[in-house]
Amino acid sequence: MDFGFTEEQLMIQDVARRIAEEKIAPSAEHHDQTGEFPLENIRLLGENGLMGIEVPAEYGGAGMDTVGYVLAMIEIAAADAAHSTIMSVNNSLFCNGILTHGTEAQKQKYVRDIAEGRAIGAFALTEPQSGSDATAMRCRAVKQADGSFVINGKKSWITSGPVADYIVLFAMTDPDKGARGITAFMIDTQREGFHRGKTEPKLGIRASATCEIEFTDYVAHADEVLGEEGQGFKIAMSVLDAGRIGIASQAIGIARAAYQASLEYVKERKAFGQAIGSFQMIQAKIADMKCKLDAALLLTLRAAWKKSQGERFSTEAAVAKLTASENAMWIAHQAVQIHAGMGYSKEMPLERYFRDAKITEIYEGTSEIQRLVIARNETGLR
Ligand code: CAA
Repeated sequence: MDFGFTEEQLMIQDVARRIAEEKIAPSAEHHDQTGEFPLENIRLLGENGLMGIEVPAEYGGAGMDTVGYVLAMIEIAAADAAHSTIMSVNNSLFCNGILTHGTEAQKQKYVRDIAEGRAIGAFALTEPQSGSDATAMRCRAVKQADGSFVINGKKSWITSGPVADYIVLFAMTDPDKGARGITAFMIDTQREGFHRGKTEPKLGIRASATCEIEFTDYVAHADEVLGEEGQGFKIAMSVLDAGRIGIASQAIGIARAAYQASLEYVKERKAFGQAIGSFQMIQAKIADMKCKLDAALLLTLRAAWKKSQGERFSTEAAVAKLTASENAMWIAHQAVQIHAGMGYSKEMPLERYFRDAKITEIYEGTSEIQRLVIARNETGLR
């Protein structure tokens, strides 16, 4: 693993940092308070290659590697986590899944508009009764004589669901086969039979719109199956492996923002006649925050590097996501504590970092699921 970055990687980081500072950070508080979906900023990110970072230029993307994706995600998340949630779903769960498993026609049809920021993608796996236990899904797709499928069922907690143009959906095509009876479909949200439920009010990432979706006799044509029939669960799992690198990066961005704010504050804020940063209890917090931030970053870069080598990276992605999300939660917690009353106040963004960090321990596989994946891969036991 190379500890230096290439010119291209630094370039995409720079583009992301510039947009983050100029456009996203100034409106982060507004988006958090109103929950307004940041469509204009998402378009701008797409125009600058940030909605399809690993998508080859021929499909409208920036043609970068996963390390470039990590660096860009961190910059956007440090300015506003909600923007980075939308970015991560478009990049990892939508574009990358289709690039890896889609036909040439599917790549042409679905990837370009998302990668260029003209459309929004989503990923629908979770259901009201099945989150971690993803194979317990009830959404059914029944094959017809002409090769099409009729889909009925509900999906919940769909990130970007209220605004998505296209969705990668997982539905049961053969319930007797369990995980091997799940198939992935490309869904057009303009088609009859697709409905959106109410937008979920959330603790954090409030501008990332989330809702339940429902299918009633929705017809998916034969060429809208993503990958092979019955391969949907493996597609979901491999797409989530990559997605977890994105969420680890998001966690690092939130943690970095909380850490940097703390670092400045402990030098300025005085108590008992001194800067509070000169007290050992505060110094210990700063040192531990720095260690946890660096550990998260290095583990995430390792997972990204391994993915870019074309090697299996399930364990590394789970290690990165688990460490980065739990470290981000801890760092955001310490940052609120260091800022004390001001940390608890909405006048500063610390309480937002604290609320936003929590989701990274939950979505794209809870911390408990990451531990399960790591332990299963390490021991070979189930
Ligand atoms: N890559 C490829 N294939 C994989 C895989 C991977 N990483 N992990 C498992 N598989 C394959 C297995 O090899 C197995 O294949 P065979 O049938 O050929 O043997 C098949 O998938 C089933 O695997 P398991 O028996 O291990 O499945 P399981 O039912 O025990 O579940 C699990 C495993 C790890 C718990 C999985 O269900 C899981 O990851 N759950 C969490 C789901 C999740 O992350 N949800 C997030 C929702 S999406 C989201 O949050 C997006 C958002 O909005 C931002």
